[in-house]
Amino acid sequence: MGKIRIMIFELSSLLQNVPQGQLFVLTDTNSAEHCLPLFAESIGETPYHLLTIEEGEKNKNLASVQLVWDFLLQHCATREAVLINLGGGMITDLGGFAAATYMRGIRFVNIPTTLLAMVDASSGGKTGFDYQGVKNVIGAFTQPMATLIDPIFLRTLPARELLNGFAEMLKHALIASQEEWVKLLQLAEEEPSQEQFVAVLSEWELLRNSIAIKEQVVAEDPLEAGKRKILNFGHTIGHAIESAALENIELGIKNFELSPSHGYCVLWGMVAEVYLSMVHAGCPREVLQQLTQVMLQYYGRPECNCKQREQLIEWMIHDKKNTQSSCSIQINFTLINDVGKPIINQFLPLSAIHEAIEYLFSI
Ligand SMILES: NC(=O)c1ccc[n+]([C@@H]2O[C@H](COP(=O)([O-])OP(=O)(O)OC[C@H]3O[C@@H](n4cnc5c(N)ncnc54)[C@H](O)[C@@H]3O)[C@@H](O)[C@H]2O)c1
Ligand SMILES: [Zn+2]
Repeated sequence: MGKIRIMIFELSSLLQNVPQGQLFVLTDTNSAEHCLPLFAESIGETPYHLLTIEEGEKNKNLASVQLVWDFLLQHCATREAVLINLGGGMITDLGGFAAATYMRGIRFVNIPTTLLAMVDASSGGKTGFDYQGVKNVIGAFTQPMATLIDPIFLRTLPARELLNGFAEMLKHALIASQEEWVKLLQLAEEEPSQEQFVAVLSEWELLRNSIAIKEQVVAEDPLEAGKRKILNFGHTIGHAIESAALENIELGIKNFELSPSHGYCVLWGMVAEVYLSMVHAGCPREVLQQLTQVMLQYYGRPECNCKQREQLIEWMIHDKKNTQSSCSIQINFTLINDVGKPIINQFLPLSAIHEAIEYLFSI
């Protein structure tokens, strides 16, 4: 398992044994602007080859993977090469996959520069890219030689991207730790400014604990045979919202106001799934009230019309994780009995899901 290390100043010692000319850096346009200077400072005199690709999820595609392969080939990367992925989850997913497949696998280091990538995407070993409009459909499980995290990169991150990552931190707390949940709620209640929020994260405790939750779950079930499914909490309904929003934006349907941003969609998905947890798994109502409050305070309401709400269910039915029983379609959820008490493989009928979606849109 790639070890999470704390400061990027460990970089030089980590890369001591990389042969001359065999260090490669992949980044995107925003990370190149905001993060590359600090990276360059940390790495000192060590020379490296640099590839910068356009920012954005739309570039997490095969064409970009090919750019990375070509870049490695052109500069004669050998099996001794090391690729550093400096960026958000788009870059760590893409670069990790390119590294896993070039010469049947070369070493790579993740240096996440978004909150979402720090707490989620850069660890756990999942890499890949979007293909034929399907998110992450081509990919590989592979571990970085290290993940180096430095909260200093959060300083230039837009508020919206901080909230994307915060949603996954809330998820980690909900599935694993009452203590963390209380701390995150306290932070949210204080209504910190963006600078204060980054300052609190830079104190490390919240960040470290959130990463530790993901790392521990992945260590127990690296290939998602069972327990790792708890990390899908909020994602069954969240992905449906994300997919429906993306499709409608592509079709140019203007009255569909949902943001396709992953963390926001997961937050809304969690609200609906905590509702399901309350009705079907005995989760206390208080948890739903607390999460709903955070939603209203920071993420706003998802908006869509009745037809589009029906469409959310259709997206869930098409999800590969679901099974069709003889009498009715059921959808597979991870629920929580309470904060820190997740249960996987909870199959619920469509009527239950309709009710949860109604709740989400009625708030
Ligand atoms: N592998 C996994 O387990 C896993 C888990 C969760 C998400 N993901 C993937 O991660 C991706 C989402 O990650 P993300 O939210 O980091 O998106 P992202 O990489 O697209 O980054 C979001 C935006 O922030 C910019 N940015 C990055 N660092 C910056 C900085 N320090 N300052 C200013 N701007 C900066 C990026 O250029 C981009 O515009 C998705 O592709 C998702 O599928 C993977
Ligand atoms: Zn997620």
